[in-house]
Amino acid sequence: MKDTVDLHSPDFLRAPDDGLALLRSQGQLVRMKLPIIGNAWVTTDFDTARALLTDAESFVRNPANAGGKSLEENYWWFPRFIHPLFRNVTLMDGEDLSRLRRLVIGAFSSRGIEAMKPAIERLTDKLIDDLPTDREVDLVENFNRRLPMLVICELLGIPEEDRPKISRWMEPLGRVSSPLTVFKALPGLYKSNKYFRADFDEVRRTGRPGLIKELVEIRDGKDKLSDDELLAMVTAIFIGGFDTTTHLIGNCFMTLLQDRALADRLQADPAQVPLFIEEVLRFHSPVMFTNMFHATKTVELGGRTLERGDRVVPLLIGANRDPNKFDGATEFKADRKPNKHLDFGIGVHMCLGTQLARAEATVAVNRMFARYPDIHLTRPADQVPMLKRIGLRGVAQMPVKVKA
Ligand code: HEM
Repeated sequence: MKDTVDLHSPDFLRAPDDGLALLRSQGQLVRMKLPIIGNAWVTTDFDTARALLTDAESFVRNPANAGGKSLEENYWWFPRFIHPLFRNVTLMDGEDLSRLRRLVIGAFSSRGIEAMKPAIERLTDKLIDDLPTDREVDLVENFNRRLPMLVICELLGIPEEDRPKISRWMEPLGRVSSPLTVFKALPGLYKSNKYFRADFDEVRRTGRPGLIKELVEIRDGKDKLSDDELLAMVTAIFIGGFDTTTHLIGNCFMTLLQDRALADRLQADPAQVPLFIEEVLRFHSPVMFTNMFHATKTVELGGRTLERGDRVVPLLIGANRDPNKFDGATEFKADRKPNKHLDFGIGVHMCLGTQLARAEATVAVNRMFARYPDIHLTRPADQVPMLKRIGLRGVAQMPVKVKA
């Protein structure tokens, strides 16, 4: 039996429990090599993951705050236009991070997302209208990837006519799986950087509504976001909100396409959909792990002593299936309650888009199965290819016929 686990192998992605059990048998913290990240300590244990995510003093994102080189120094060979993006929320710590989050959190409030519901429904219905009904269609390309991209454009207030090109520029970011593919994303990032810098001025001039307007107008006393910070924030929203939500929706659909009775129950009682979605987040963990952390000092974690500068990553998929935390952790229970999974993270970096992601998945599930009760996979589920994308869990394609 192998003593290592490849988190991105089709076997693990399809059925992670054996791999997770093997990692658990080796301890709460285990050394592992992760793509792009390299060697790091990882944990599959819920309490250890939680302790790591909520101890912002001992664990930081920016290696410069843990005695290492700054991201700008580490990645000096990246083109200059990328450098402002290193100063985005996911890579910040301490007061810099709280300041940025304080400035933007209002824009992400539930009230704001509630106001977006009609737009999410409109975009969803349009995508469903456009699905061909007379032949096989890949839902990943034709729905699951499109909805989150359109919703982010709507959230930001990007004019309709600019959305196709923004989608084209941002999409390669969602295909990053190795250092080489990072380079494939650069031309799109270059163009989107140029577009957004000009757009911030345009929004200041015209007052075009949307999150960009709110972000450019944010004031906290004398504090406001610089154009570099605005750009980093907008890019973080695309990176944080696009593929993650794509695979939440995909995992919801795959579950229901394989369990017709559950799909029917949810149609009959839509009030159960939110619990179902939380269980998909827990059980399928579309986000398998977060960005890495660096220890700021000698610190105990998961029964080991870490040294300043050590790298450590919480495996959310492990925490979410921790048998010490969840009854029947390896079973999918559509009505599980309580369900305090970690798939949105927790602590100072907790996801800013939780309510938006939940709203999109709810509308997608309700509308798709209402419109096409006979929707079905055209291939056995175990022959549907798994996605190979760092840290994400979902399917690469979803071949369906929407009508019987
Ligand atoms: C199923 C959908 C989603 C999941 C599972 C998810 C999960 C996560 C997780 C685990 C983090 C913490 C990452 C870390 O610590 O490295 C995070 C951060 C973040 N998410 Fe989400 N996310 C989802 C959807 C969204 C959406 C729809 C948006 C916005 C439109 C969004 C925006 C962000 C941002 C900006 C951050 C960075 C927060 C920070 O570092 O302070 N996410 N998300």
